[in-house]
Amino acid sequence: MGAYTAAYERSIADPTRFWGLAARDVRWLVPPDRVLDDGAPPFYRWFTGGELNTCDNAVDRHVEEGRGEQAALIYDSPVTGTVRTFSFRELRDLVAAFAGALRELGVDRGDRVVIYLPMIPEAVVAMLACARLGAVHSVVFGGFAAKELAVRIDDARPKVVVSASCGIEGSRVVPYKPLLDQALEMASHKVDRCVVRQRPQLHADLVRPRDVEWDEAVAGGSPAECVPVSATDPLYILYTSGTTGRPKGVVRDNGGHAVALRWSMENVYGVGPGDVFWAASDVGWVVGHSYIVYAPLLTGCTTVLYEGKPVGTPDAGAFWRVASQHRVKALFTAPTAIRAIKKEDPEGALPAGYDLSALDTLFLAGERLDPDTYHWASRVLDRPVIDHWWQTETGWPIVANPRGLEPMPVKPGSPTVAVPGYDVRVLQPDGTPAAPGTDGDIVLRLPLPPGALSTLWQDDERFVESYLGRHPGHYLTGDGGHVDEDGYVWVMGRTDDVINVAGHRLSTGTMEEVIAAHPAVAECAVIGVADQLKGQLPRGLVVLKSGAVVDPEALRDELVAMVREQIGPVAALKEISVVPALPKTRSGKILRGVMRGIADGRDVPVPSTIEDPAVLEELRPILRSPTASP
Ligand code: COA
Ligand code: AMP
Repeated sequence: MGAYTAAYERSIADPTRFWGLAARDVRWLVPPDRVLDDGAPPFYRWFTGGELNTCDNAVDRHVEEGRGEQAALIYDSPVTGTVRTFSFRELRDLVAAFAGALRELGVDRGDRVVIYLPMIPEAVVAMLACARLGAVHSVVFGGFAAKELAVRIDDARPKVVVSASCGIEGSRVVPYKPLLDQALEMASHKVDRCVVRQRPQLHADLVRPRDVEWDEAVAGGSPAECVPVSATDPLYILYTSGTTGRPKGVVRDNGGHAVALRWSMENVYGVGPGDVFWAASDVGWVVGHSYIVYAPLLTGCTTVLYEGKPVGTPDAGAFWRVASQHRVKALFTAPTAIRAIKKEDPEGALPAGYDLSALDTLFLAGERLDPDTYHWASRVLDRPVIDHWWQTETGWPIVANPRGLEPMPVKPGSPTVAVPGYDVRVLQPDGTPAAPGTDGDIVLRLPLPPGALSTLWQDDERFVESYLGRHPGHYLTGDGGHVDEDGYVWVMGRTDDVINVAGHRLSTGTMEEVIAAHPAVAECAVIGVADQLKGQLPRGLVVLKSGAVVDPEALRDELVAMVREQIGPVAALKEISVVPALPKTRSGKILRGVMRGIADGRDVPVPSTIEDPAVLEELRPILRSPTASP
């Protein structure tokens, strides 16, 4: 039996022993009484009775154990022309100082802090400072608009918001503070204080006495020590798109998270203490939380924080320049970034200009890795290109090629095999197991391993209803696919209304809510259609109110602007067609899946429950080519 199979079987047969051993790599202040607390299913808790501090494990312990002078964080920002390295000792001092500042502003164990920051070192420092105090951070991605920020502020009810004067998107300076001010005005929850990092590119106006500059706040506090917290205490809330307009607040605990992420670095990614790890993502997404900040630092790796794009900052060689300059061993990004690079450098000539001898592996996730992109990256880099599948809820890979444990042969299009800890199954709609090769709902048999979400923020009911209701005893991933005869998992796409645009997870339901609010719109549907560069792009279909007279182009511009204004530029909704009617079932359900299939050029069966087949026929040409007229 290979090392992978042996580890996998142990993890499923005896999770307590498996994760109990893995927990030895974490520094506990009080060791746990129980590894897996399964007393109240469907809720499971890991490492109950244990106490630790995640910041202590990510920073302080490395200083004490001899890594104080090793680089912990390399901030590489082509958009500002900056490269700056922070040792573990420097990082500890910055984090302790900022934790002291937060404490002085009234932040205590269990209080929430919303972080709305671009990709600057302060983002990492603020997250770790919250962890140090036992406070719960909630990072909001910078590409979201004020309203989305306000929704998250109302749900998390933070004492303090940490933000900056601006972000930098390529060559564009994006003011953050006006968005924050608007969000605070819209939110019903009142925030006590805001800390603002003034960047040289833009000075933000402060609202005194509520707002305080970062340096002022630090000067007003004294360094804070790590506060012991329970393993089951929340470390962070990260909001993610669900099928409705209301985002889901995924709650991550401290203990299980530290154990699982630490384990994943060596076993999945094949990296260990002292190695350089670079996740080219954003701290606003789960990839950023887990693999820019926590996992590399918990492992004693050097992590790279990159404020730039794969292309245009300054060119399509940017990733290879960063990997070479910082001797990156493992690079993790989304397939869309590789497609953007391939578009600019189709022959893959640019990597040859850089010394990539330290680079072992390219890891890709966030959306399906299409075989073309896989083959291109493998050819130009001439090293393993590894697809792996996971989601905000799980926090770390569900299916991967376990490079550290035992590299497996790659089947392009499949992220390979179930990671130890995850009991991956495929079920048919009636709950019976699907035969190998047959598509169904990909589910995870409970309990989920450590590190996966414990619940949704203050909403156990929604957690159960969203994830555990469809197939009792199993967590519904929301992805469909199958497992083949060799045990390889094939993830074919979401079975709900979540779409993936350039590796960003978005809800078509939220976009529909915005569009439906337009006075001329009677009803609408937003579907995700395949796109060569971004994987998927949203497309809107709009039915006008009877008697409404509007210029379709002007309406489209208005709706695009509304979505940008209310959700954010990241929603990237640009295509909207006015149609006579939407195809529905007799019970009134809009046939989004059928429309998506037609738009993607797939041969999809039309359900027998369709109300009026003529409506769908009339729509076919528009779905195939959005410029066609009804
Ligand atoms: N703050 C403000 N605006 C942001 C933003 C941020 N943090 N991130 C994105 N935006 C804006 C972009 O500027 C763009 O605005 P525009 O419509 O005015 O041009 C819009 O949101 C859409 O962004 P994006 O979908 O990222 O498209 P892009 O054309 O700027 O870049 C890629 C395309 C492929 C280069 C880019 O999406 C990329 O690097 N993706 C990597 C994927 C990734 O990091 N995924 C995270 C999970 S691994
Ligand atoms: P997020 O929560 O933003 O990480 O998005 C998670 C979703 O992205 C998953 O549910 C999948 O639909 C998709 N996804 C992520 N990684 C992959 C992958 N390797 N292959 C296919 N889909 C993926």
